[in-house]
Amino acid sequence: GIRTVPTIAELRELVARRRADGGRVALVPTMGALHDGHFALVRRARELADLVVVSIFVNPLQFGAGEDLDRYPRTFDADVAALEALGVDAVFAPAVDEMYPNGRGGTTVQAGPVGSQYEGASRPGHFDGVLTVVAKLFNIVQPDVALFGQKDAQQVFLVTRMVAELDMPLRIEVVPTVREHDGLALSSRNRYLDAGQRQAALVLAESLRAADAAASDGPSELLAEGVAAFGDHDGVSLDYLVVVDPDTFLPVGEDYRGRALVLVAAIVGSTRLIDNAFVEVG
Ligand code: PAJ
Repeated sequence: GIRTVPTIAELRELVARRRADGGRVALVPTMGALHDGHFALVRRARELADLVVVSIFVNPLQFGAGEDLDRYPRTFDADVAALEALGVDAVFAPAVDEMYPNGRGGTTVQAGPVGSQYEGASRPGHFDGVLTVVAKLFNIVQPDVALFGQKDAQQVFLVTRMVAELDMPLRIEVVPTVREHDGLALSSRNRYLDAGQRQAALVLAESLRAADAAASDGPSELLAEGVAAFGDHDGVSLDYLVVVDPDTFLPVGEDYRGRALVLVAAIVGSTRLIDNAFVEVG
């Protein structure tokens, strides 16, 4: 059966035993309130490894003042039951004190300049918090592979770059975004949306489709069409829509051609939603 492990020491012991038998270890970091997007990562982890560890930890370091830390959805018992059905071996669910015995005063990882763009511009310190907890989880579990969703494209970029730049000995596996049938990207925050907002939220995926349809005309046409999709939606405010070079995460110039990534963020009611899609420019 599945084991839920609250301490770093117990988790290390459990993983060490399995690794001694030559088993491959996969880690899926999450903040819980699990849905089919998370489960896609878990299923892929199950294919790749002998021991699958899922962490469930709502990381205070990545939430800003006034964000939804306190009301972030917590559905722990249902999460564990679903993970057990998927054949997960262990759920690492530490208390905040176990992860941060020195509170916010301790050592952190800095995401660098890209960390203060896009999501990081609206959420100062967010990616430092993400990279700090992810680095800790990598050191605690020492997985062969860790799985992340393309849904959070900037997170994928920054985690992948941290692993390369800090010489962390593991592989990052990226899983495509899981969507509802109408295109809405699954997110734990979708449960904040009422019926009208749920409908309005489709504008994110629509803007990405519009951007893709105009991609062959070049970056500025692509952006114009993507932004235009927001024109006729009440109660939705566009935060940013940008097209970036996937290798640098910097905005592309007007003469850029080739594979690019369109990033979009919008506030629907009071809920911040993000989405992204690869496009072929030119
Ligand atoms: P959380 O939002 O719980 O997401 C956990 C993982 O699930 C992330 O890698 C995320 O990209 C992935 N995911 C979420 N929705 C998805 C979808 N619709 N399709 C595919 N994958 C999806 O991201 C975090 O937690 C935290 O920042 C964390 C990495 C755990 C650090 O605290």
